[in-house]
Amino acid sequence: MKKHDSEVDENKNVEEQMTDDEAKILDEIGIFGDSRRKFLGQMSAAGGAILAAQMLGEQQIFAHSLGEAANGLPAQNIENGVKVVFKVNGAEKSLNVDSRMTLLDALRERMELTGSKKGCDHGQCGACTVIVEGRRVLSCLTLAATCEGKSVTTIEGLAKGEEFHPVQAAFIKHDGFQCGYCTPGQICSAVALLNEAKNGEASYVTTDVRQRPRSIQLSDDEIRERMSGNICRCGAYPNIVAAIREVHTGKDVAQQWQFAGENSQAIFDVNEQTEKENQADETV
Ligand code: FES
Ligand code: FES
Repeated sequence: MKKHDSEVDENKNVEEQMTDDEAKILDEIGIFGDSRRKFLGQMSAAGGAILAAQMLGEQQIFAHSLGEAANGLPAQNIENGVKVVFKVNGAEKSLNVDSRMTLLDALRERMELTGSKKGCDHGQCGACTVIVEGRRVLSCLTLAATCEGKSVTTIEGLAKGEEFHPVQAAFIKHDGFQCGYCTPGQICSAVALLNEAKNGEASYVTTDVRQRPRSIQLSDDEIRERMSGNICRCGAYPNIVAAIREVHTGKDVAQQWQFAGENSQAIFDVNEQTEKENQADETV
């Protein structure tokens, strides 16, 4: 078959696959018969070129990420390649990555750990929070290459088999989420936060930073401040605070809430009695 004939057949096929709406639009702008087939042929060629350019760009950014085994990517296919050996959720990983690749992209695109979310990709929302060497970090602002020899924990690594991490269980109990998009970051942040409190680390709202307590009893203000880098668009904050407070104190936290008052400001207070108890032994 001549090249011209095959092109005509191809364009006919494209035309047959058009929806009624697409056909109507072409009718309305006056493209019929041969002109329509020619137009569709040009459109599919242009679409293919755009798709190819897009794929090429992604390939460079993710360094042949899709479909490649996490450990077996040949270094010569990667621009500015560096080898990183680190532990992810307890398992040793060896990756050849583009030196500019973020930890978030390495986790999501190379290791298929998609629990960590890309919200803003600018260090402003906290959706990508993971734990590196026991400290929370924004994986969208962390280069994978800087994790050499380190231990990374993501949301996928918190549960022990079928058993949730206590913070995960508390988020479920207290409905600490709606859409769930920010939740992996919130939970990783909360897990690290509880360790910071155990280690007596001060925060912006610690009343007396000269005291170096062995551990800190967190008030709700402390929890809010320490979680302020994790944004929840659904506004599940009261429930998130309650969940963290419950794990922190080891005591059941009851929720009390009311509708907006005079200032149209939502007011939320956790159980008053629990608040008083915690204020009494705020610094141990
Ligand atoms: Fe990292 Fe928003 S995606 S802070
Ligand atoms: Fe939807 Fe937090 S649960 S953004």
